Amino acid sequence: MTFSVALKKGTPKQTDLAVFFAASNVDNSHKIIASKKKFVAPTILTSCVLKSASKTFEKLGFTGGMHEKCLVPGCENDFFNKAMFIGLGKIDVLNPRNLHVLGMRTLQYVKELRASDFSIIFDKMPAELDPNLFFENFVIGAHRGAYSFNRKSADAQKMMTNVNKCTIYLESVPMKFKKTVAKADIIGLGANLTRDLINMPAAEATPKKLADVALELGKAKGDTPSPLKVTVFDKKKIQQLKMGGLLGVNQGSHKPPYFIIMDYQYKKTAPTIVLVGKGITFDSGGLNVKEWMGMSSMKTDMGGAATVIGIMQAVRDLKPRMNVVGIVPATENLSGANAYMPGDVLTMYNKKTVEVLNTDAEGRLILADGISYGSQKYKPDYLFDLATLTGACVMALGGNAAGVMTENDEYWNKLNDVADESADRIWRLPIWDEYGEPMKSRIADLQNVGGRWGGASAAGWFLKNFTNEPKNYVHVDIAGMATGAPKGSGAGDASGFGVQLMVKFIESVQ
Ligand code: BES
Ligand code: ZN
Ligand code: ZN
Repeated sequence: MTFSVALKKGTPKQTDLAVFFAASNVDNSHKIIASKKKFVAPTILTSCVLKSASKTFEKLGFTGGMHEKCLVPGCENDFFNKAMFIGLGKIDVLNPRNLHVLGMRTLQYVKELRASDFSIIFDKMPAELDPNLFFENFVIGAHRGAYSFNRKSADAQKMMTNVNKCTIYLESVPMKFKKTVAKADIIGLGANLTRDLINMPAAEATPKKLADVALELGKAKGDTPSPLKVTVFDKKKIQQLKMGGLLGVNQGSHKPPYFIIMDYQYKKTAPTIVLVGKGITFDSGGLNVKEWMGMSSMKTDMGGAATVIGIMQAVRDLKPRMNVVGIVPATENLSGANAYMPGDVLTMYNKKTVEVLNTDAEGRLILADGISYGSQKYKPDYLFDLATLTGACVMALGGNAAGVMTENDEYWNKLNDVADESADRIWRLPIWDEYGEPMKSRIADLQNVGGRWGGASAAGWFLKNFTNEPKNYVHVDIAGMATGAPKGSGAGDASGFGVQLMVKFIESVQ
């Protein structure tokens, strides 16, 4: 059963677990209830519970600080058996990222109580909070908190509880709020699909598995045909199309490559966005083998592909007013007797030749085919790629932002605006032609690595060579973001980064 959030008017008749949010006073004192000043939902608490809650707060030192929690039993006449108060911290400094983490923590607390559903009682929305920002980010965070990867540990499985439903009660529920919550539910489910694929071991999340998941999204639900048309090219077709990058990287693998296309067509005359995701289901580095630490997390190197698949699931359900095409070239990058070798020259789909000097810079080789195919076939108005592409991007920005590279100021501004309203943080890096100087090969059009410095931008510059319209191109390096973020979320598992960002971008330009 999947998790979902609903909005309802009023208060519940009876619920086992009611969650209330409490904001801390400016002086961080615990007199939240006594002062009633910034307490979010005081009016529906009976005086009995108010009394016992304020005593409990005092005894336990609950101040309403961010993510603090306090459990209080209900009284006989109350509509809940237990109330959990969760601190919001100082309400006027809440931003999309900590609202996301708040949603995540709330669900984790509810799971600890082994509740399968619960109610959040808002009464009135506090004036300091923008309801749409709140609901969108809280609900997406709640999906993340509700999510748990089906771990291969009996102990962990015993600990697993599933929360199916969260009902948020408000004094009044405008249609706008309902729409925001419904949209956030769809984004949250898309991000959970992304998380699942990234968290899976590479032996499970194979190129074939990515193709199967995509095909599943394209299947009809009952009588309704899926708005997504999914096509999967097998190795033979990839050879016919002469996608030399994908085939070159695939040489060291026993598993065949796949080239996956998820096509949502709204209208011929509508604008088109193509999203290409890096689908390296395991990156050993190839013959330029990685050391153990670097390799240990490389099952996540299909993070871009998983993000594009998560986005396409959301697109299928949200049906935006523009055409959206998701493209995933998928293969392992392994070593062995058949592996591609440093010095090899590959001819990409768009006929450009690339001298491979480092087999660990493989993402850009498969993306080159994905980007040139997307560019030629769909002539998109917007061409994005999402990829766990460079360690250099992680060096530059850590786990706090994805690196975005584009020559298009207008696209950058639009993306940055929607990022500001989401939990997905981005930062712009340049792709000036100077970054390409060291990537000119003596024997081919390009080589796949340049010098030591500016690696994130060098990779972005390389990819730009494979678009027909470099002006429409945006490269998003999510190497530091596919796991972990946002700050405070604590988990080292897949984050689902990028699904909210791109769905919001699509909505803003549709
Ligand atoms: N998949 C890695 C990039 C990566 C590093 C992702 C850390 C997530 C965390 C990529 O294929 C890679 O190995 N890139 C090389 C490029 C270099 C050889 C030019 C890198 O960043 O070291
Ligand atoms: Zn690599
Ligand atoms: Zn890689």
